[in-house]
Amino acid sequence: MNVYIETYGCQMNFADSDVIGAILGKEGYSIVNDIATADYVMINTCAIRDNAEQRIRHRVHDLKALQRKKPSLRIGVLGCMAERLKTQLLAEEDNISFVAGPDSYRSLPQILRKVGQGGKAAETELSTTETYDDIQPVRLNGNGVSAYISIMRGCQNFCAYCVVPYTRGRERSRNPETVMAEARSLYDEGYKEVVLLGQNVNSYRYEGAEAMSFPRLLESVAAIAPDLRVRYATSHPKDLSDDLLRVMADHDNICKSIHLPVQSGSDRMLKLMNRHYDRAWYLDRIDAIRRYMPDCSITTDIIAGFCTETEEDHQATLDLFRRVRYDYAFMFKFSMRPDTYAAKHLSDDVPDEVKTRRLEEIIALQGQIALENNQKEIGRTYEVLVEGVSHRSDSQLFGRNSQNKVLVFDRHEAKPGQYVRVKVTGCTAATLKGEIETS
Ligand code: 5AD
Ligand code: SF4
Repeated sequence: MNVYIETYGCQMNFADSDVIGAILGKEGYSIVNDIATADYVMINTCAIRDNAEQRIRHRVHDLKALQRKKPSLRIGVLGCMAERLKTQLLAEEDNISFVAGPDSYRSLPQILRKVGQGGKAAETELSTTETYDDIQPVRLNGNGVSAYISIMRGCQNFCAYCVVPYTRGRERSRNPETVMAEARSLYDEGYKEVVLLGQNVNSYRYEGAEAMSFPRLLESVAAIAPDLRVRYATSHPKDLSDDLLRVMADHDNICKSIHLPVQSGSDRMLKLMNRHYDRAWYLDRIDAIRRYMPDCSITTDIIAGFCTETEEDHQATLDLFRRVRYDYAFMFKFSMRPDTYAAKHLSDDVPDEVKTRRLEEIIALQGQIALENNQKEIGRTYEVLVEGVSHRSDSQLFGRNSQNKVLVFDRHEAKPGQYVRVKVTGCTAATLKGEIETS
């Protein structure tokens, strides 16, 4: 039987789809790339904003055309939206046969057997212990160069706007030995970069014979080989420690880039969002990053128009962006999510057109800053890990430097998986253009 898996949302979801592929592969299912050959379609979903969910609803409706051609086709919704809506989704979308939440993927073989016989199934129990740590993910969307390793699951920070603690459950850390084994085996297969994933990697803590913290885990993975790059995402500003920054600074193969979601530049908003830090604390952490690693890139997430946000709060965000000068930002309009603290206790009172205007102002400012940051890169030379052929032209390759910036350059003899030295010769706000240094 053939299974087609479609993934939406964050990196964690892509990592989960690889775990699902492994679970099903072991039971004799084939994971296929062509949806037309599928007996089962699984949509691994995101619930973080309403528009993410709407997009998935449309996709589910579109699949009806395929089901008309192939009535035996069964469709399932997995992941965060499945966890949030549970059986309600089965009731609302009549062409779905099953839903499975993020901690239920081991049940998928049984679920498929059941729905194959015409039944419906919903598995949405959350676990406090499941980390899928014995499962070697199959790399479904891999490029053979860089791979995700999930090191923890869940989140219990309960930011007021965020649905994730409800869809992914309590925080739990994966056994470090299995993380190391996965990283080693990726390196042996020829991978040159691993990205350690968790909602908040700074709270990684494994209580074994000896407790393991995130900085120690990072150090151990970096020790596997000097030509294996190590990245991680995401850190919460409230506990970005000097210990972690020191470990990053001390290892050449730990990439010099930090994603540090700020969410707002206003102290009043940060408090209302339950972020557990204020602007001064955040700026102090930015200073610390620059002290330990002057060449480190810094990126962020920001929400425009959270409940009660005033023009003054918004100005504080713009001001923070001017001070930090991020290399990249993921910028969003606030979307009220059911079940969250905000949904229960606050009102979504910033009009949509005001949210849109504020978001546009942030995007315009950030675009300008990113371009100026990139212009300063012209003339510098970076070690770049080649990832693949450029989307624009077959004669060009693209790769990333340690700072996670994308560089595009003429191919010469280079191949994906190789390190090359590239001199930056031009840029846009999003990419650096360069030339391989041949001598
Ligand atoms: N509305 C808008 N953006 C949100 N995010 C999380 N929840 C919401 C929401 N309800 C953003 C945050 C987070 C990123 C993954 O998504 O910025 O860091
Ligand atoms: Fe990832 Fe959050 Fe979306 Fe779930 S809701 S897929 S954790 S971004």
